[in-house]
Amino acid sequence: MISRREAIETIALGGASLTFSNLTEAQAQTPLQAAIPNVFAGQHKTKPLPFDPAKLKGISEKLIKSHHENNYNGAVGALNVVEKRLAALIADKETPGYVYDDLKREELVRTGSVVLHELYFGNLGGDGKPGGEVMAAIKAAWGSFEQWESEYRKAAAGLAGGSGWVNFTLNLHTGELHNYWAWDHMHNVPTGVTLLALDMYEHSYHMDYGSAAAKYIDAFMQNVNWEEVNRRYVRAQKALAALRA
Ligand SMILES: [Fe+2]
Repeated sequence: MISRREAIETIALGGASLTFSNLTEAQAQTPLQAAIPNVFAGQHKTKPLPFDPAKLKGISEKLIKSHHENNYNGAVGALNVVEKRLAALIADKETPGYVYDDLKREELVRTGSVVLHELYFGNLGGDGKPGGEVMAAIKAAWGSFEQWESEYRKAAAGLAGGSGWVNFTLNLHTGELHNYWAWDHMHNVPTGVTLLALDMYEHSYHMDYGSAAAKYIDAFMQNVNWEEVNRRYVRAQKALAALRA
């Protein structure tokens, strides 16, 4: 079977009409995107907030709307720009790999930001009361929900004043539940399914709490949508079972 890289190289070597270095970005995208239509399309769309932003407890409407409109929406737009630039340069022989990889790094940063923000907003808007199968799994792994929450909060507190995420995750390689620390949008366990994402970038709380990150963590926990976390857990367990079949 021909690999995607081989296919791309074949396309790149296919004829004079596919010499990209002197073409505009729009011209260069056309034949490649026809050949690989599902890569670098730059067509990501911003998803609306899945809850009423006026009804969170301890997180203001102004803050959550700014976070959604500026940080998340900005990441979606940036990812689209990066994907279109990658499409334009993929077969440009005048662009060396080390220059191309500046865009590949941006691809990873922006993709991580988009995915994690969608998970973050998706796991807010609840009453903060855990339940369901995920609750039983937490108790089995940590001994009690309080032990789990203590560790989750401790990892979050360690990121105060900086940036990053704390991701309660089902590791699809080991089958274990863990609270993973992430310094930025690119950090994550390689095979994890994030069940609960906590944004610890200062833009998540500074407007409401200044540098008092602990108060933001308290507010976040009061608004966790555990029904959504449980749905993610049940789906992830099915995925784990399928991978091990
Ligand atoms: Fe954020």
